[in-house]
Amino acid sequence: MKQFISTADVPSVPRLVDIAMNYKKDPFSDKELGKNKTLGMIFLNPSLRTRLSTQVAAKNLGMEAVVFNIDKEGWALEMNDGVVMNGNTTEHVKEAAAVMGQYFDILAIRTFPGLKDKQEDYTEKYINQFIKYAGVPVVSLESATLHPLQSLTDVITIKENWQQPRKPKVVMTWAPHVKALPQAVPNSFAQWMNAWGEVDFVIAHPEGYELDEKFSGNARIEYNQDKALEGADFVYVKNWSSYRDYGKITCTDPSWMVTNDKLKHTNAAKVMHCLPVRRNVVIADEVLDGPQSIVVPEAGNRVWAAQAVLSEILKG
Ligand code: CP
Repeated sequence: MKQFISTADVPSVPRLVDIAMNYKKDPFSDKELGKNKTLGMIFLNPSLRTRLSTQVAAKNLGMEAVVFNIDKEGWALEMNDGVVMNGNTTEHVKEAAAVMGQYFDILAIRTFPGLKDKQEDYTEKYINQFIKYAGVPVVSLESATLHPLQSLTDVITIKENWQQPRKPKVVMTWAPHVKALPQAVPNSFAQWMNAWGEVDFVIAHPEGYELDEKFSGNARIEYNQDKALEGADFVYVKNWSSYRDYGKITCTDPSWMVTNDKLKHTNAAKVMHCLPVRRNVVIADEVLDGPQSIVVPEAGNRVWAAQAVLSEILKG
């Protein structure tokens, strides 16, 4: 693998999932693979799981990981080419990315969308500038429109929690939130469910929250959450802001919060969320603290997803 930005970079999703699951069984089986290699982890936005799980994954491969919170500790970056830099930005991404490419064997980057300019966000300007100028493989730690390490984790989590011969029904449901959030996690989850192809995939959301069709693909769309959840084997809960009315909150209906009552017509569905989650806004305490929630082991699987991706890039 040359980079890890989306499913387009993955020759075979099932194979990558198998590699990750093998690392879960035997974390140190490739402990020499990353010897004398360094991973640079560049954060323009906060993180708990992505940062820590990727550091642990690198360590398991014998690789050094250096974390740089560039938004707080670095120079203000200019992302546009050809500008007169007489404003607030101090360093151009051309030099910054190229210099970091001199220090690291792999560069991993988190860069959230601004949610103001749809075109700028959906062309992935920021991460593409790093890819263009770094000169080393780039791994997305979540970009403006996608979160592939989370989605690979979610495929692993569904696979290890499903032993039946039929395809599981997986429902990704929108839930309310107090802030306007990116579409990166739901876009990415949809992209990976479609690429994996091993699930019956449904997306439930209020009208106006349709995702970009290039990600939702052939998923069945439901505007009635109760109907969508009937017979679900997995419920993937996530808020996102509107793609159509870009970056706006157009619904705050609390009845979309996932409660035990909402789960009663599911097939005792396992409940997933990428975290962090706002309790009693997105998912009720009774669900998160109950037997159907698998959010913590799901987050645990972030290590194996990151380890699989780093190992495939190290192997070239
Ligand atoms: N799910 C996830 O990416 O968590 P963090 O934002 O804490 O990294």
